[in-house]
Amino acid sequence: MEGVEERVCVTGAGGYVASWLVKLLLSKGYTVHGTVRNPEDPKNSHLMKLVEGSDQKLQLFQADLTNYDSLHAAITGCNGVFHVATPVPPGSEPILEVELVDTAVIGTLNVLKACSEAKIKRVVVVSSTAAVEMNPNWPKDQAMDEACWSDEEYCRKTKNWYFLSKTVAEKEALEYGRRTGLEVVTVCPSIVVGPMLQSTVNGSSWVLIKILKDGVDRVENKVRFIVDVREVAEALLLTYEKPEAEGRYICSSYMVRMRDLVEKLRSVYPNYNYPNNFIEVDEEKISSEKLQRVGWKFRSLEETLVDSVKSYQEAGVIHRC
Ligand SMILES: NC(=O)c1ccc[n+]([C@@H]2O[C@H](COP(=O)([O-])OP(=O)(O)OC[C@H]3O[C@@H](n4cnc5c(N)ncnc54)[C@H](OP(=O)(O)O)[C@@H]3O)[C@@H](O)[C@H]2O)c1
Repeated sequence: MEGVEERVCVTGAGGYVASWLVKLLLSKGYTVHGTVRNPEDPKNSHLMKLVEGSDQKLQLFQADLTNYDSLHAAITGCNGVFHVATPVPPGSEPILEVELVDTAVIGTLNVLKACSEAKIKRVVVVSSTAAVEMNPNWPKDQAMDEACWSDEEYCRKTKNWYFLSKTVAEKEALEYGRRTGLEVVTVCPSIVVGPMLQSTVNGSSWVLIKILKDGVDRVENKVRFIVDVREVAEALLLTYEKPEAEGRYICSSYMVRMRDLVEKLRSVYPNYNYPNNFIEVDEEKISSEKLQRVGWKFRSLEETLVDSVKSYQEAGVIHRC
């Protein structure tokens, strides 16, 4: 481990993105307060095995986003906070607007209020390109950048509650920072894939798993914005550590058409049940140039795909072939 003498809090530590962030922080020598809703749940047991000595440097706190006191207890004594937890929709089940939007927004404000009280130096809030992309008025030929926000009314009209929750929560977070002087940086990852550290499959990993095993014949040849989970963790640490980092950062490495994604997977793993027909749809573009200007780099898409497939095979979610 390297020797950073800092204590930081990570909310929702047991989740997909947060587990990689906690691993990175521990490997750099940070002491981590990780919040989980149930410390006894075996689904969080991987956290104590992330790096050698995890049990010395990682302390788990029971906390729910809707319970201010539980967040305050976890954040007190820290120098910085990574707010990662959010309600994520479970697959295709219908989701209640109130549950998703209120929990995300109230939870973010609870975290920020606790940060002010604990005199936190900087908070990195994990938002999403869901807070960027749902904007029918953005010119189609122009890459979406940090100036592009999802249209709240459009999200409501189309019942995209997760998109709405991320948009409102991120706006509130940045506004809270302007109002109070707390340093708030937001990072907006696109679809996150790559190896899983946790034992249960998270929502975004299903995007690749479905391509490998669903056997759907026709899919839209949409452009997918993709980022590797390990690079999301790097982006979060970078925007925490770099004093010049400010405001909002889109975090997306690859823009790849569905057909090309399938072909890349098929060239390494020819025997999965891939779609064969593609329906043409309009192209969209997104830019992570601002993040790259503070030093963010990413590996090749091929490496991300191979590491993802190996991880799904090891977890027994797809068969080996
Ligand atoms: N994966 C992606 O493609 C992607 C893309 C862009 C942005 N993001 C953002 O990245 C963050 C992490 O997502 P993920 O993909 O890692 O999903 P995940 O594995 O489902 O993690 C979500 C975490 O939030 C916690 N959580 C949910 N509701 C909570 C509540 N009421 N109180 C406290 N904790 C709560 C969950 O805790 P439990 O384990 O107790 O349920 C879990 O640890 C989220 O902010 C998400 O919006 C993800």
